[in-house]
Formats: sequence, structure tokens, C-alpha cells
Amino acid sequence: MSTKEITLEALNPKEFIDAQVKAIREAVGDDVAINALSGGVDSSVVTMLGHKALGDKLKTYLVENGLMREGELERIAEIFRGLGVPVEIVDEREKFFAALKGVIDPEEKREKGITQVFYKDIFAKLVKDSGAKVLMQGTIFTDIEETAAGIKRQHNVFEQIGIDPQEAFGYKVVEPLIELRKPAVREVARAVGLPPEISDRPPFPGPALCARVIDEVTPEKIDLVRKATTIVEEELAGVDAFQYMAILHSDQVTGIRDGKRDFGRQIEVRCWDSADAVTATPTDVPFATLRKIADRLTSEVPGVVSVTYNIGTKPPSCIEAV
Ligand code: XMP
Repeated sequence: MSTKEITLEALNPKEFIDAQVKAIREAVGDDVAINALSGGVDSSVVTMLGHKALGDKLKTYLVENGLMREGELERIAEIFRGLGVPVEIVDEREKFFAALKGVIDPEEKREKGITQVFYKDIFAKLVKDSGAKVLMQGTIFTDIEETAAGIKRQHNVFEQIGIDPQEAFGYKVVEPLIELRKPAVREVARAVGLPPEISDRPPFPGPALCARVIDEVTPEKIDLVRKATTIVEEELAGVDAFQYMAILHSDQVTGIRDGKRDFGRQIEVRCWDSADAVTATPTDVPFATLRKIADRLTSEVPGVVSVTYNIGTKPPSCIEAV
């Protein structure tokens, strides 16, 4: 792994921003660049750096993949438009669900369902249509570390694992945050003018709710896990934690509803304490809070009869289940 880390202690956010703006201008030259904004802190910082460096020469797209949380895309578009950054929403739901059909293996989901569709299909077309020569993306140091170590293939890592994006997808990739871990990215987010709603946002994976459905991903299962996610996020918003989530398990369990047998779904709740996602421990969430989450999940999400709370640590668990 050739990339070196800039630690939080060594980071001077203003100098970092100036240096990256300069580097982006040099890399893009007179060309047009594009990037995909998910609203996560990484892609948001990249959007701001790109906008600062390139102005109208950066085209920012919000890809509606059908896998985002409730109202997420609209809210992100609103925030960025409010900051004077033009963003365009492109609806590609059908392509993602078609690619995910029948896919069970987690790595295959990332590779076939997300990486291939996103970069080769959707982005290659956007690059072509917009005339862009460069794709900017928010890969961070931890992504390449874990991918290089063979733990989990992050969907946004190419060169570090020997894929030449120019050859494979037909465009150059610029990754301004490659030397930073998450806490440093948050510092840069504040310095570049992003509101706390973005800079302090709990992480959310690029493959979105796809990472929270075990086995095959279908629109129905995504709808279910989306409803569960809204409840878990509402109830845990006040808890001091690194990240929290709902996971839909594929095996069904016997339950009882209205005096009748109900062979239903189970949701696993995870809530993590962590500094940088490399290691993590379960948050000591008050039992009353967990009970309230369980009551809401079983009464508000159709078909859910069982709720569990994960008490394993990372390692050997991972933060996401897929
Ligand atoms: P894991 O599950 O590897 O997660 O312990 C570590 C951190 O990374 C996020 N994550 C991802 N982010 N693409 C991303 O952009 C991915 O494929 C991916 N997988 C996990 C996860 O939410 C956690 O913060």
C-alpha cells in the first residue's frame, strides 16, 4: 500500500483544502469532472472541494439507487442547493435492482450489484454524456487499508487493488481524501463550510441499505429495512455512538400475532462505539431504549416478529452485516 496517512494531529484543515483545490485544478485542467454525492461526509467534502476548485466544471449527481434511507436524497439535494452547489438527481433504481436479483454472496453484491452498475454502467454513461474526463470520489484511508488487507472489498477502491479505472471504465479517478481517516474528514468538512448535519453525520455505507439485507436484495426487503432504519435512527439519535443500524435477516422465525402463528421476519439492531471503524464495541444502550425500539419494530414494520441486539465486537464482527 503506497498511500501515506495524514493523521488528525498533523492535519491543518485550511492548508489541506488549499492543497487539494490546487491538486484538483491541476488534475482536471480544462476538462470537466463529475462526482456522485451520497450525502455522506466523504462524498460531501469531495463535492465541496470540487466545487471550490472547478465551479461549473464539476457536475455533481445524486444517484437514486432505490437503496437510500427515507427522504435522504431530497434532503441532501436541498442542503447542497442551499450552499450554492448545483446537483442533479438521476433515477437508476431499476438498474440496481435488476443487477441485484438473485445475488446472495456479499462480495458479489458489492461487485456485481454496486461496483459494476455504478461505475461501468451509470457512471460511464454520465461521463460520456457530460464529456467529463475525470471522476472525483471520496475514498478514504480506511477503505484502502481494509480492501488491501483482504477484509472487505470497499466498493470505491480501484488502483489499490490493481484495477486501472481508465482501462476498466474509461475515465480517470481523483481521490482527494485518500490520506485521511474519518475524524480528519469531519474536520475538513467543518472547515469547508458544511453544516453539522453533514459534518457530524454517522457513517452510512456506499452500498447503502444493500449492506443491511442478508441474502437477496429485493425492493420489498429494502422497503422493510428502510422502515426499520427510520425507527432505529429516531430512537438512537440521542445516544452517543459512532453508528447504528437495522439489519434484515433472511431466516424467518415463528412468532404469534393476534392469537395466530406468524412465521415472520427478524431485525437485528446494531449500535457501535468506535473511533474510526477499524475496531468497534457495542454501545451500552439503556435496556428501556432497546425495548422501545423492539416494540416499535414489531408493531410498525409489517411482518417483523423478532428483534435482537448485537453484542459482538469488531473484530471478529464487522460494523455492517453484509
Ligand atoms: P465494516 O462493515 O467494514 O464497516 O466494519 C466499516 C465502516 O465502513 C462502512 N462501510 C462501507 N462504506 N462502502 C462504503 O462506502 C462499503 O462497501 C462499506 N462497507 C462498510 C461502514 O458503514 C462502517 O462505517
